[in-house]
Amino acid sequence: MKKLTIAIDGFSSGGKSTFARAIAARLGYEFIDSGAMYRAVTLWALEHGIVRGGVLDESDLIAALDRIDVRELAADPRIRSIEVSNLVSQVSRLPAVREKLVAVQREMGRRGGVVMDGRDIGTVVFPDADLKIFLTADPAVRARRRYEELQAAGQEVSLAEIEENIRQRDLLDQTREISPLRQAPDAIVLDNSNMTLNEQMTWVEEQLCRLR
Ligand code: DC
Repeated sequence: MKKLTIAIDGFSSGGKSTFARAIAARLGYEFIDSGAMYRAVTLWALEHGIVRGGVLDESDLIAALDRIDVRELAADPRIRSIEVSNLVSQVSRLPAVREKLVAVQREMGRRGGVVMDGRDIGTVVFPDADLKIFLTADPAVRARRRYEELQAAGQEVSLAEIEENIRQRDLLDQTREISPLRQAPDAIVLDNSNMTLNEQMTWVEEQLCRLR
């Protein structure tokens, strides 16, 4: 059977990665977290002194882009810290950064058999994806999920701080000039606010059946 390309887009902390990883495992496909790549570039910037007083030096970062090993850094657990979360929108809005990461993502998905999650996968990275899912969930539900994730990772942050971070990122993701978060016209919307992962998997099986 043909190896499919599956695109999952949606707001932050909506459970995209958990869902995408489960679909990939189910189909024996590769799971690719594109957000981790934007976080990787952000972590690199923080660690190389090109963020001063919370402000990113854009030209320094752009000049350094070719030296950043995105795929390796994307596996670093520190990409999930609140420092990275607070800065990542400043990095992901830069056209040069997006151009580089989109190229990496397309290369990784060249042969199909991938489930990639992000913001612009169905619209920009793989406009011809076989299945496009746009995942949504109530902001309060998403904040609670992120809070529990960070707590489990031993990070001290308040729920209020996370809610504010999510609100800010939703706004920035939707209003940025280049590749804003938008639902592709041919994407199927799934609101998972009140769904378990098992229920989401049952739903996706039905979608996959239609493709076969
Ligand atoms: O999914 P996430 O929260 O780990 O994503 C981190 C940031 O990267 C988020 O603020 C939006 C940005 N992002 C993006 O602009 N395009 C993508 N394809 C994935 C993430």
